[in-house]
Amino acid sequence: MQESPMQEMQAPLTGRPVISATGLFTPADSISNEELVASFNAFVDRHNEANPDAEPLAYSSVEFIEKASGIKSRHVMSKAPILDPAIMCPRLPERGNDELSFMAEIGVAAARQALERAGRKPEDVDAVLCAASNMQRPYPAMAIEIQQALGIEGFGFDMNVACSSATFGIQTAADYIRAGNARSVLVVSPEITSGHLNWRDRDSHFIFGDVATAVLVEDAAIAPTEHWAILGTKLKTVFSNNIRNNFGFLNRAAPETADTADKLFVQEGRKVFREVVPMVAQMILDEAARLGIDPEGLRRLWLHQANAGMNRLISTKVLGHEANEDESPTVLDTYGNTSSAGSIIAFHQHSDDLVAGDTGLICSFGAGYSAGTVFVRKVS
Ligand code: COA
Repeated sequence: MQESPMQEMQAPLTGRPVISATGLFTPADSISNEELVASFNAFVDRHNEANPDAEPLAYSSVEFIEKASGIKSRHVMSKAPILDPAIMCPRLPERGNDELSFMAEIGVAAARQALERAGRKPEDVDAVLCAASNMQRPYPAMAIEIQQALGIEGFGFDMNVACSSATFGIQTAADYIRAGNARSVLVVSPEITSGHLNWRDRDSHFIFGDVATAVLVEDAAIAPTEHWAILGTKLKTVFSNNIRNNFGFLNRAAPETADTADKLFVQEGRKVFREVVPMVAQMILDEAARLGIDPEGLRRLWLHQANAGMNRLISTKVLGHEANEDESPTVLDTYGNTSSAGSIIAFHQHSDDLVAGDTGLICSFGAGYSAGTVFVRKVS
């Protein structure tokens, strides 16, 4: 007999964290590589015509983008200004303090879906973590605005570990469950990456896309019948300047010139590729060994979505053979790199078909460097 939500919420706690459900918000608009490159190359023409004595800027190319990254398209919140060669950044109209802010709005949409899929009422959630690469403002915390919009009591706070924010959020939520400090925690990752991408930078203009995800982490005692047991979580950080964004309130007076480019996302992509792949592969293998899990027996890897080649190498080291789409699904092709949300989108879209007992891995990696693993097993 199915328990009523009230009975569930009164069940004795186990201290065992599970993922009860996930949610996803995808912006309606998307930009194909063809559209992106046409706009970039129009900007290059304008720039070179206006600066005949300067080193000419080079064209971008659709073929390069797809071959180097695997990205074919990305969703964005503000398409037309990004593609306008005279603007090339999102232009979201400023909202008043009494209106829901953009990050909160898309976070709430993803969170509502997670709650609905879990059959959970907002008043039964104890905490909201807004875990994302960049917050729209320093305070009040985005998480508290999301908490208020959903009608959740308890507490919320923001956390930023760049592309690993969601897995760091899941471990934090899992630790609240393990300690008995919460029964139900929403980890929300609204990623408006288009706002911190330099759309005029040939090396990186194709990388990111906008999205929001939500993960409901709960005590096993109150979880819906079908859920994902969290077998173990592991986090790692190693300082690196190879992915960096210097934007902040100590440099707010910087003029809008080319030398402010480092106030947006910058990276040494080749170094990141070379250094992060072995670090993450080893971390996964070490954590699998600690948990007594045979890595080659993992049913599916939901990896961070930054580069298809990186994921191919990592999955080969973990599984012992090159993973197919079923073993390591890609969402990078249609979403681009969505920072912390990438592995959660992959999990959200490609986990329903797994059966009870199947074991998989959610894994993120990115700036910091930072990396997080969440080993999960389907229960139904
Ligand atoms: N269009 C056409 N050519 C381009 C280009 C573009 N948009 N951008 C760069 N190129 C050129 C370069 O100028 C270079 O030319 P050269 O060989 O004549 O010097 C060549 O393509 C190779 O550039 P490189 O930057 O070395 O490419 P890459 O194969 O390393 O791919 C990334 C670049 C960023 C896609 C890749 O390094 C990557 O994804 N790294 C990991 C990044 C990551 O995970 N970051 C975390 C972010 S959260």
